[in-house]
Amino acid sequence: MTAQLIDGNQLSKKLRAEVAARVQALKAKGTTPGLAVVLVGDNPASQVYVRNKVKACEDAGLHSVLEKYDATMTESDLLARVEGLNQDPSIHGILVQLPLPAHIDGQKVIEAISPAKDVDGFHIASAGALMTGMPGFWPCTPYGCMMMLESIDYDLKGKHAVVIGRSNIVGKPMALMLLQKNATVTICHSATPDLKAMTLQADVIVAAVGKRNVLTVDMVKPGAVVLDVGMNRNDEGKLCGDVDFDGVKEVASHITPVPGGVGPMTITMLLVNTLEAAESVTK
Ligand code: GUN
Repeated sequence: MTAQLIDGNQLSKKLRAEVAARVQALKAKGTTPGLAVVLVGDNPASQVYVRNKVKACEDAGLHSVLEKYDATMTESDLLARVEGLNQDPSIHGILVQLPLPAHIDGQKVIEAISPAKDVDGFHIASAGALMTGMPGFWPCTPYGCMMMLESIDYDLKGKHAVVIGRSNIVGKPMALMLLQKNATVTICHSATPDLKAMTLQADVIVAAVGKRNVLTVDMVKPGAVVLDVGMNRNDEGKLCGDVDFDGVKEVASHITPVPGGVGPMTITMLLVNTLEAAESVTK
């Protein structure tokens, strides 16, 4: 292996310790940062995600509430609940776990969250703030990727970053964050005719498709930095990312593993956003 591992667990531990210290400082001023996590229905993956988010809050000293509702909850009841949380001064961040049941318009629910409490960074106001370089919450997964690049002192200025995937949650905000740091950015997606021709030019590759082996060793320029946002299962049922880790690690300069890479960073940045939401109403 030639690549250095960017260890998301280790970086998270450091950043979460910093969050915990800032939480204590805020508590001394009389404010305990609070996150509300809303789960509708019983999607098993979502249940694991929300449990991990609530536990991470507790470990860092934040207040968190997990509100679980039946899959039959109506859209108007959910909108009313979000409005209740908007008005609740003990809650600084609101996270409605996605996906929502099919009868609920997820975007409508996200737009009902006060932008000041949108710690997921999914609200149109947050997306617009990111696009224009204004202050606002950044979506946690691409924000975590940026922190991973920062952790290796990577200077993006003048570099070519290729993002594979164009989701609103990862691909598009990732591209904007890289652009803000003066990278030249290419977004590739399912209609890109020659993905390999693009990735071979990249100094930084972010794979965020949700499909195994989207990036293989023949597609990576020696010395490139590879961030793997994927979360898939291999034939043996083991967690794996979008990148063929065993191959790509032989040519990349740095690579993130799955598990233990971007995943823990997503929750870490949720804690950071929630803390900063609380700090901004306390100052
Ligand atoms: N579902 C999968 N990832 C996420 C996330 O980061 N936030 C929310 N709200 N739902 C998700």
